[in-house]
Amino acid sequence: MKINETLKWANKQLMQSCERPRFEAELLLAYHLKKERTYLHAFDSNEVTEIENYKALVERRANHEPYEYIVGEASFYDIELNVEAGVLIPRPETEILIDLVAEIIKEEKIRNIAEVGVGSGAISIVLARKFPSLNITATDICDIPIKVAKVNSQKYEVGNRIKIIKSNILDEVMLNELVAVDKMIELVVSNPPYIANDFELEKNVRAYEPKEALFGGRVGDELLKQIVLDVKAKGVKYLACEMGYDQKEPMTQFFNDIGVEYYKFYKDLAGFDRGFVIQFYKD
Ligand SMILES: C[S@@+](CC[C@H](N)C(=O)[O-])C[C@H]1O[C@@H](n2cnc3c(N)ncnc32)[C@H](O)[C@@H]1O
Repeated sequence: MKINETLKWANKQLMQSCERPRFEAELLLAYHLKKERTYLHAFDSNEVTEIENYKALVERRANHEPYEYIVGEASFYDIELNVEAGVLIPRPETEILIDLVAEIIKEEKIRNIAEVGVGSGAISIVLARKFPSLNITATDICDIPIKVAKVNSQKYEVGNRIKIIKSNILDEVMLNELVAVDKMIELVVSNPPYIANDFELEKNVRAYEPKEALFGGRVGDELLKQIVLDVKAKGVKYLACEMGYDQKEPMTQFFNDIGVEYYKFYKDLAGFDRGFVIQFYKD
C-alpha cells in the first residue's frame, strides 16, 4: 500500500478512539518508518514497508492504548522520557509544579530535595537539569517506575545526583535531625496518586495506566494527607504537591486541623485548583 492509501485506512481505524485520527495516523507512520512527518507528505506515493507492523500499531491505538506507550516515549518539559506500561505518562500540568518548586530552590539556595512517587523521573530529572548542584532522593513503591526512572536519569546524565529508592513515601529516607546540615532535605515535591478509587476515568487511562499511580484511596486524598504528615514529622521546611481540582477544601481543613500555618494553593492553566505549597516553619 502507498503512504497516502495507508494513512486513509489508518484514519478510518482511529476515528472512534482518537480526537485527531489523521494526525495520530501520521505520527505512528512516521515512527514506523523512522522518518519525520514531513516525509509522508513529500513522498506520499511511496510504498509502506512492513505494513503489517504498522497495522499492529494502529490496532493498539484503536484499542485506546496511549500513543506514548506504543512508541515508548513521552515529551515532558524540555525532555523525552522513556515510558512503558506500569509507569504514569507525565502530564503537562505537572510542569507548573516544577516551575513553582524551581522558584523556591533558587530563592532559598536549596541543595537537597526529595521526591515522593518518582514515576518516569519527570520531576526529578527536570529539576536536576535546571540546578547542576542539586541532589535528589526520589522514592517509589513500585519496581517498574524505579527501573524506568533510573534509565531516564542516566539518559540525561543526572543519575549521579538522583538517588532512587524503593520506599513507601519517605519511610526509607533518614530523618533530617540524623544527617549532617549540608545533607538535610529542605524541600519535598510530589505528584502522588490523588484520584478516588471509584472515579470513572477515560478508557485509555483506566485500562492502561498503573492503578498505583492514579488512585489515592477511597476518598482520593488519603496519600496526600499522609505525605503532609510524614514530611512535617521529618522536619523538612517545604512541601509542594499536585492534587485534584476538588481537593482544596478538604486539604485546607486538614492543614488547619494539624496546625499548618503557611500554605498557598495554585491553579493549572485551565483555572482549576491543582496543588499547594506548604512552608512548615519560618526561620
Ligand atoms: C501520579 S504518579 C507521578 C509520577 C511522576 N512523578 C510524574 O509526575 O509523572 C505517582 C507515583 O507515585 C508512586 N506511589 C504510589 N504510592 C506511593 C507511596 N506510598 N510511596 C511512594 N510512591 C508511591 C506510584 O507508583 C507512581 O509512580
